[in-house]
Amino acid sequence: MSGFPKILESTQDLSKGQISTLISMAKSLKEGQNTPFFFDQDKRPFLATLFLENSTRTKTSFAIAAQKLGAHYIDFDVSTSSLKKGESLEETLLTLKYQGVNACVIRTPNSGELAQFKKDPPLCIINGGDGTNQHPTQALLDLFTLYELGLDPQGKTFAIIGDIAHSRVASSLVDLLTRFGGKIVFCGPKECLPKSVSGPVMLTESLDEALELCDVIYTLRIQKERHTGPTPYYDSYHKLYGLNLQKMQGLKKAPVILHPGPVNIGVELSKDLVRSPFYKGYEQVINSIYMRMAIISATLGN
Ligand code: NCD
Repeated sequence: MSGFPKILESTQDLSKGQISTLISMAKSLKEGQNTPFFFDQDKRPFLATLFLENSTRTKTSFAIAAQKLGAHYIDFDVSTSSLKKGESLEETLLTLKYQGVNACVIRTPNSGELAQFKKDPPLCIINGGDGTNQHPTQALLDLFTLYELGLDPQGKTFAIIGDIAHSRVASSLVDLLTRFGGKIVFCGPKECLPKSVSGPVMLTESLDEALELCDVIYTLRIQKERHTGPTPYYDSYHKLYGLNLQKMQGLKKAPVILHPGPVNIGVELSKDLVRSPFYKGYEQVINSIYMRMAIISATLGN
């Protein structure tokens, strides 16, 4: 794909055309049509994941996606690396580059940490989530999932319910949904809502209001590890903002529910709801492989 960024830090690094192309690529890869993206066996690139924060879905799906494309995969172990001896991230990436690694997926707790590499990237970098800033590949796979479900964002209202103020997923997702014509309702206790919003985005502390307005529900975990202060609302969260099957069955519309995972069952969603057809979180997990294959192909095809 022409002009694909060497560093994918933010959804803002991609044009609408590039986003649509990634979605088409992911779709063809899922349908098994798109073999030209597989790397030649004599030119297999190396992709590493370097995760300074825990992960189940993102890291494993990049590992599977890279190997499905025929790339070599390196699970860089931060805990036994020289990062623990004080070596900087930049020196680590330069070392990987000179060892022949072509691309690195990085997750860091520090918002904006990858911006330092934008001017002169040591190798291709894909942001696997940085602090509360951005998680572009999650938002791209979410958009792909919405299109697959027949939910073109144009003219639709998305209720994003939960800890929006601490969510990098929400930042990336809102950028994509609004650029593709969607409207957003942020809903949660006031400590979880951003102080201000712009564009087609509204705030509400009322779950009933958000459910009344929306076509799609996107729930988020309370990201306690990113809070600096106490979370007094946590104990009453399920009662006030949690969703269960009974509540969903009582709604006039039947909006689908997406969630980036991990779900804290019994907090934002009940187990019966996660096991019901309302919940599309496992579709997101399936689609993550194909969207990340598309992103790796576009990055390394550059
Ligand atoms: C999210 C993350 O790490 O930002 N998870 C994910 O990548 N699928 C959301 C979260 O941690 O709550």
